[in-house]
Amino acid sequence: MPERLAETLVDLWTPLIILWITLPTCAYMAPMNQPHTLTTGSPLGLSRQSEELRILNRSKRGWVWNQMFVLEEFSGPEPILVGRLHTDLDPGSKKIKYILSGDGAGTIFQINDITGDIHAIKRLDREEKAEYTLTAQAVDWETNKPLEPPSEFIIKVQDINDNAPEFLNGPYHATVPEMSILGTSVTNVTATDADDPVYGNSAKLVYSILEGQPYFSIEPETAIIKTALPNMDREAKEEYLVVIQAKDMGGHSGGLSGTTTLTVTLTDVNDNPPKFAQSLYHFSVPEDVVLGTAIGRVKANDQDIGENAQSSYDIIDGDGTALFEITSDAQAQDGVIRLRKPLDFETKKSYTLKVEAANIHIDPRFSGRGPFKDTATVKIVVEDADEPPVFSSPTYLLEVHENAALNSVIGQVTARDPDITSSPIRFSIDRHTDLERQFNVNADDGKITLATPLDRELSVWHNITIIATEIRNHSQISRVPVAIKVLDVNDNAPEFAAEYEAFLCENGKPGQVIQTVSAMDKDDPKNGHYFLYSLLPEMVNNPNFTIKKNEDNSLSILAKHNGFSRQKQEVYLLPIVISDSGNPPLSSTSTLTIRVCGCSNDGVVQSCNVEAYVLPIGLSMGALIAILACIILLLVIVVLFVTLRRHKNEPLIIKDDEDVRENIIRYDDEGGGEEDTEAFDIATLQNPDGINGFLPRWGMPTERWEERNAIQTGCV
Ligand SMILES: *[C@@H]1O[C@H](CO)[C@@H](O)[C@H](O)[C@H]1NC(C)=O
Ligand SMILES: *[C@@H]1O[C@H](CO)[C@@H](O)[C@H](O)[C@H]1NC(C)=O
Repeated sequence: MPERLAETLVDLWTPLIILWITLPTCAYMAPMNQPHTLTTGSPLGLSRQSEELRILNRSKRGWVWNQMFVLEEFSGPEPILVGRLHTDLDPGSKKIKYILSGDGAGTIFQINDITGDIHAIKRLDREEKAEYTLTAQAVDWETNKPLEPPSEFIIKVQDINDNAPEFLNGPYHATVPEMSILGTSVTNVTATDADDPVYGNSAKLVYSILEGQPYFSIEPETAIIKTALPNMDREAKEEYLVVIQAKDMGGHSGGLSGTTTLTVTLTDVNDNPPKFAQSLYHFSVPEDVVLGTAIGRVKANDQDIGENAQSSYDIIDGDGTALFEITSDAQAQDGVIRLRKPLDFETKKSYTLKVEAANIHIDPRFSGRGPFKDTATVKIVVEDADEPPVFSSPTYLLEVHENAALNSVIGQVTARDPDITSSPIRFSIDRHTDLERQFNVNADDGKITLATPLDRELSVWHNITIIATEIRNHSQISRVPVAIKVLDVNDNAPEFAAEYEAFLCENGKPGQVIQTVSAMDKDDPKNGHYFLYSLLPEMVNNPNFTIKKNEDNSLSILAKHNGFSRQKQEVYLLPIVISDSGNPPLSSTSTLTIRVCGCSNDGVVQSCNVEAYVLPIGLSMGALIAILACIILLLVIVVLFVTLRRHKNEPLIIKDDEDVRENIIRYDDEGGGEEDTEAFDIATLQNPDGINGFLPRWGMPTERWEERNAIQTGCV
């Protein structure tokens, strides 16, 4: 039959070369009219071939007969016949020789040059090389002359199922949340098959699960893996091994297969509430523990992991809610109980707290399973600690008048030992805070007494520290600040606030204010100062000046008349008595010096002979005269002195009153010194007129002010 088919082809084919194809015995092998299979895409059985050929007969052209087929992996005892070349040139006249060249010519494919039969002499592998391109030519046997142009054709290697499916990316890992519903997609895997995917079923794969049921299933075609059980629980089993098989030939028996493994890990969801390991916790804490100290830890376990296991801790009830707090330690996933306020064993010895742990990240899908929280009871026992003394007040403020008597009690501090075994306490002053040892404290009763006199005007505050020490345990010490304020007593008289110097114009008018003075007082009365001013009683009717108190506590001095003249009197001294409003009031007398000056019409002082009093070295006549007068006075005194010395050696004869005075002076000589120089003013004594002659020139109205005046004139 192949022969007959080949001859038919020879008849209808115009190109010179005619291929005769061997018909393989294998059912899956290509039929000889393979070009048709290429167009239809499905292999043809032999029974259909004659029908096909009838169609071919009707159309002489339209398809190319230039392919041959050879089955891969064929390994018979002899070389396999692939096809035959034939030319329709008249073979009778000349002998024809067939020549083959191209891919594998001579090595893989051999041609019988007389018959044109092509054999494959080697085993072929489609997956290695699927087709070979060769060239055939008919030449004259003797001359080797081409009888026609060379003709190209292809030998295709026909697939057989010689490759098993392979999972190139295995083994695989995938995750799926626990508690997923049935049929939740997990992942998909793919196997590849090297066989021809377009020809036959050699590459048609079907997937199945060999291991991993009943938890997972696989879709046979798409290889999508799904959960096959609902609500798989991570807390029960976290990891599953699934073995997947891919089989070619559409899964039919005889097909080849490959397997791979898939590890499926269930991921956590919050499906478990926290649960305290204990329902009751006991802690104890010394009463003197520092605030913020961790007292104990409570932990609620959670079978979930990660954030699904995170809980926040709270104190929700109990009698210690104000004193304790709980903080969540995210790292250790527990709750730390800390002290917020000081404890006192002597007041309360135990506390109870109700603590709660609640999941932070709740999954609404499972919230119906009950509250995702738990509670436990915490009992805290307060232990006694040896505590230092406690003062009755954190600070003390004492007040004492500055004239308080020495050793008088100015205040008292008290302290007690808070412990049950109450120890007696001794008091002392921290001497660093009382360097001047101004105070004492009674060691037993804490009474503070005055040790040295106080002066408010020196120091208002004495801030000291008192130490309380337990007698039974000297290391238990407390300190308390004691601020002692010194209260004012009226112990300072008021005086002029400044050194005033007043000027009076010769051309001034009566009632004119010639000076305003104010007073000051070192004391600090509660209601402020109120000063009273007055003239000395004997001067109340002073014909020259008068005074007037102002609203602002100051005083104005007014001239009573006009017509003051330097000629008559250059300087007036006006003593003023200033009195404060203390109880009892204190007063002092300050003297105001008033100079008579020449002024311009608008009252500007122009000349007061001021140079004579102020400038020491002779710039003016006034100054020179003053100095000269001093020298003359001194000379007179010296002369008198010498005269008196001479008198000493003479016998003592009392002649009259004057002599007696002279004698008295002599007796005073020894102890007198400078102050007695006035007494030596023998000229004054001997010449009663002297009082009007010399001294009044220096403006000394009365003896009382003599000294002050002498200082002002610079002549003592
Ligand atoms: C002493 O204490 C009082 C009251 O606390 C305060 O006003 C004063 O400034 C303190 N004085 C000194 C010198 O520290
Ligand atoms: C008043 O001034 C006159 C001269 O101007 C003087 O003589 C008299 O002593 C003064 N009186 C008093 C109290 O100062």
